Amino acid sequence: LDVAQRSSTGALPPGGSVDAWVRAAHARYAPDDAGTVADYIPVLAHADPAWFGLSVVGVDGRVHQAGDTGIRFTIQSISKAFVFALACEAIGHERVHERIGVNNTGLAFNSVIAVELNGGSPMNPMVNAGAIATTALLPGSDAEERWSAVRDGLSRFAGRDLVLDDEVYRSESGANHRNRAIAQLLHSYGRLDADAEESVDVYTRQCSLAVDAHDLAIMGATLADGGVNPVTGEQVVSAEVCRDTLAVLASCGLYERSGEWLFEIGLPAKSGVSGGIVAVAPGKGAVGAFSPRLDAAGNSVRGQRACAYLSRALGLNLF
Ligand code: DON
Repeated sequence: LDVAQRSSTGALPPGGSVDAWVRAAHARYAPDDAGTVADYIPVLAHADPAWFGLSVVGVDGRVHQAGDTGIRFTIQSISKAFVFALACEAIGHERVHERIGVNNTGLAFNSVIAVELNGGSPMNPMVNAGAIATTALLPGSDAEERWSAVRDGLSRFAGRDLVLDDEVYRSESGANHRNRAIAQLLHSYGRLDADAEESVDVYTRQCSLAVDAHDLAIMGATLADGGVNPVTGEQVVSAEVCRDTLAVLASCGLYERSGEWLFEIGLPAKSGVSGGIVAVAPGKGAVGAFSPRLDAAGNSVRGQRACAYLSRALGLNLF
């Protein structure tokens, strides 16, 4: 994505409520048809490239939305942020730091060479290697228990019971040879804390949970609110875990584009290959965006542009 385009939000409409800004962001970027829909997971290619939803949820639980906020799509890599939070909560800051790491690879989300170049380290929990290793760290005596922990934990972030999209799960399971290779490679370096095939399977299931843009905004607002879901009032994880998670999102959430993202938008965020993005404004709330057209790094083009616009319009940039 061209950074100049991403930062050029043009003249902002004067004044206005958060609802008006969200509607303005949607109207501005809906005609934008840059990017392409992912197809390396075959069934994802069926997504309508015109879908575009924006939801903003404040830590006070208020909701502001525009467009296709009720369309369900699979959470994909955005799950990595919340599974990392669950792992931090379960086994602590020191151990996730030691087993996974927190530095950007500078390489694509599914890079094999990043593992090789770093002595077998999965590097960070937001790339596929680190996410598979993080899922393997969750407590549980078998894959079913770890999957239950993931589904229950992510459902508590969303404030509703999230359901697996079986079609996407099956489609990805038949096309995930690269992730299975990454898991075997980590295993060969002694960096995987559970069986390689089972860990990839739980990871593939977590990526196949169905959410909408509104769910993403609530999940992000929970991280913004020190771990308290602003709708259900439940403390899902501790405030310390939110700090750890947001730090990793800031450095690694948009993969090799994380530096540009922070430079232009100034918020911890996570993207997924179905077209979702969650951007978190600590203490304020979160933006959930969904549109399936992606840039070359696998990040939603309309989602990025709308987040840039809203960050500026709502004064969310951390810096
Ligand atoms: O493992 C994969 O390739 C997918 N389940 C998730 C990748 C993804 O979402 C990358 N993000 N933009």
